[in-house]
Amino acid sequence: MTEADPFAHLHDEAYDSALLKHRATAATLINAHGRAVQSLDGIWRLTLDPFEEGLRQRWYANDDMPPEQWVLPRDWQHDAGEAAPVPGCWNLLRPELLHYEAAVWYVRDFEAEAPGADESMLLQFGAAAQRAEVFLNGQHLGGHLGGSTPFTLDATAALRAGTNRLMVFVENLRRPDRVPMLHFDWFNYGGLHRSVGLMRVPALHVRRFSAHLAPDGRHVVLRVWLSARAAGTATFALLDSTIAVDVRDGYGEAVLAAAPHRWSPTEPVLHDVELRFGAETLRERIGFRTLATEGTRILLNGEDIFLGGICVHEDDIALGRCTDEADIARRIAHARDLGANFLRLAHYPHDERVARACDEAGLLLWAEIPVYWAIDFENPATLADARNQLQELIARDTNRASIILWGVGNENADTDARLAFMAELARAARAADPSRLVTAACLINRAEFRIEDRLAEHLDVIGLNEYFGWYEQGFQGLGRLLANSRPDRPVIISETGADALAGHRDAAAPLFSEERQAAFYEGQCAALATAPYVRGLAAWLLYDFRSLRRQTRVQGGFNRKGLVAEDKATRKLAFATLAAGLARLRQPR
Ligand code: GCU
Repeated sequence: MTEADPFAHLHDEAYDSALLKHRATAATLINAHGRAVQSLDGIWRLTLDPFEEGLRQRWYANDDMPPEQWVLPRDWQHDAGEAAPVPGCWNLLRPELLHYEAAVWYVRDFEAEAPGADESMLLQFGAAAQRAEVFLNGQHLGGHLGGSTPFTLDATAALRAGTNRLMVFVENLRRPDRVPMLHFDWFNYGGLHRSVGLMRVPALHVRRFSAHLAPDGRHVVLRVWLSARAAGTATFALLDSTIAVDVRDGYGEAVLAAAPHRWSPTEPVLHDVELRFGAETLRERIGFRTLATEGTRILLNGEDIFLGGICVHEDDIALGRCTDEADIARRIAHARDLGANFLRLAHYPHDERVARACDEAGLLLWAEIPVYWAIDFENPATLADARNQLQELIARDTNRASIILWGVGNENADTDARLAFMAELARAARAADPSRLVTAACLINRAEFRIEDRLAEHLDVIGLNEYFGWYEQGFQGLGRLLANSRPDRPVIISETGADALAGHRDAAAPLFSEERQAAFYEGQCAALATAPYVRGLAAWLLYDFRSLRRQTRVQGGFNRKGLVAEDKATRKLAFATLAAGLARLRQPR
């Protein structure tokens, strides 16, 4: 495995202080797991800034004088604003902010000790929706674009012993050049919606490392990236072996001959992996498995598998885009009750604790970036943003056995620009991680009425969102499409679903009744059983979720295709219907 470091093209820039100050990217991301982190979660102060006055007037400059000493009136007070929890979404702070789509300032002071001579102080953000600019003691550390991936900023030079002031500008604007763009079917939450922390690390430290089982199942590929283009020796300890990795120019890899007990949904075995470099010792628990496709089959550890499960958004009536251990455990419990072995984490990177919990639980995952519907596919900056979000997702979750698919897009109109853009994303996914499969929710060739998309040749698995029996009358069309298609690689139904208002019961099964939704899944599962090349089903979706584009009386600001209501407790009739359908589909056919 003589893979060049996929981020090599960034090395020259990533360590140039100019870029580090201006954009945190996958090339500067530290994997914080297991590190000593000084948590900065808690109550911050939040001030609205819809005209980005704070950047114009430099509110972050450290001229903090009490009003009675002001020579001229000001538009900023550090201790003004309202109390806001981090992690949190400002939309749920108070009703007036529910639909706020603009900028705010999060401010907090924290105590710290000065770094030692050979130490760096790094600020780690779990996510900021959608863009952040970070200032410490009046100095701009840098910014980040992308609302669901972590980023790291070097705070060493700006940090001081004693009290430090951290100011984070965050905006959740929907813009034509962004990923996602202007129009999407989920709620546009804004905020520092995942944890923030301060890490004290050696000046030269491990940025991240990975260990995965090679396709032959008899070798473990070990990779390590350092924080600078330096040389040294890193030592891995795993599977009763110790192996030294020669690091050059900031990157090193080695191959260990080993045939570890495999991870699988029925036996989610995780192994302790330890990495030592200089004064650091980092640890991960990693599952080893092989993934491949063979014709239209998906092979996990060499065995044909059907991925039966459901999609889920990261959305909660009380937490907004935030999640917590209880929310994740509930999601897994519902998946288990469905008899699911598969979850599609729609349509953006979920909290990293989800994949860790699914490693333990033995659930397989499709993780994706929000290249969703219309995107400015002609714009190089938009491509750089999408690619960076993908690389950050892969850098963060590369050691998660549960993740088997990287999704690079969803229902994107077929143009040459879209094809080039998403083919590049598929390439970037494989360059960053050769151990997983690449997919996307593709299109139907309506003229020939078959599953066909020019993008498919760049993918390992074809995702297909289809709503026959809901957005399209009856299931005949689905039967015809399936009979008429000849895909040369596995197909996963990556979405199919119908709305139902929980509690709306009517034996006549009218639109939006629970009976109608249950009948929908009866029809879908029966039709899908006729296509041997369909090797997965991710129903749309587990919970009703907020979506501003759905304002009918039945929907009331929610997408109601959940099999469970937005209270995440009230199950609809279709829950049991889908469970039975998945059981049938997972039978050998
Ligand atoms: C699309 C889209 C989903 C959306 C769903 C729906 O397939 O991918 O994000 O929520 O349809 O209409 O409910």
